[in-house]
Amino acid sequence: MDKYAVFGNPISHSKSPVIHAQFAQQTSQLLSYEAICAPVGKFEETVRSFLAEGGKGLNVTVPFKEEAWQVAKVRSERAELAGAVNTLYFNDEGLLCGENTDGVGMVRDIQENHGYSITGKKVLVLGAGGAVRGVMKPILEQNPGEVVIANRTVSKAQTLAELFSPFGHVSASSLDTLRGPFDLIINGTAASLQGEMPVLPQGMVHSQSWCYDMMYSTEPTPFNRWASNEGACRQLDGLGMLVEQAAESFYIWRGVRPDTSSLISRLREQIL
Ligand code: ATR
Repeated sequence: MDKYAVFGNPISHSKSPVIHAQFAQQTSQLLSYEAICAPVGKFEETVRSFLAEGGKGLNVTVPFKEEAWQVAKVRSERAELAGAVNTLYFNDEGLLCGENTDGVGMVRDIQENHGYSITGKKVLVLGAGGAVRGVMKPILEQNPGEVVIANRTVSKAQTLAELFSPFGHVSASSLDTLRGPFDLIINGTAASLQGEMPVLPQGMVHSQSWCYDMMYSTEPTPFNRWASNEGACRQLDGLGMLVEQAAESFYIWRGVRPDTSSLISRLREQIL
């Protein structure tokens, strides 16, 4: 049976084993998928022994995505720019390859699951850490009209804007000098994890604005509550992104695209 796994630390909370087991069942693929807690400082060693024991591919989560980027012998352009890898697989020549499926997963959730086209839109991305860097290229591939990256530490937003400006109209801003409104606002800050919402000026949202939090939780996130109070048209969280990034990994490994909608609904019921 082909072996796959997700590596992280901690990892016990991960929904990836359940998601991939569902995908495998649905597409009649015979495989195993386990969650492995790699010791910090021993990521590469743990990956090597998993692969030596016949592992066919793996997902990587916090805090190892940057190390996975280094371990990969070949990287896609998206992974290269993301500076982080969440999917490792072998290509036809047997080389270990790195991909980042987070951004593709988010874009697929927004566009295909929810029917919102990013093309031509004025997009605000909040945050400038690894989560935002991971989704920028796939957002820009949809040809938005403009993307503004806003961050508490503006220098980090400037660094990302420079990195991605060859791929579209991207600029940087501090949070308090932002000038809206925006059609789509994506929250990639870690503020929701702390139950917080970055402080933004008035006028970020118009009546047709969509707001997307890359986090998900049992209750509306602080960002989604803010969006609702500001009168946004839709507030979405990142549960669909979680399932879609997994589906993209599954497709890379197995060449089959699983159905995601029923699983997203089922997970939503479970977390409520
Ligand atoms: P990740 O890999 O999840 O993106 P990270 O690299 O630590 O994590 O980045 C966290 C992001 O959330 C940063 O953009 C951070 O802003 P700073 O660069 O100014 O630190 C942002 N962030 C975290 N807590 C925040 C808060 N309470 N308000 C606003 N931004 C916050």
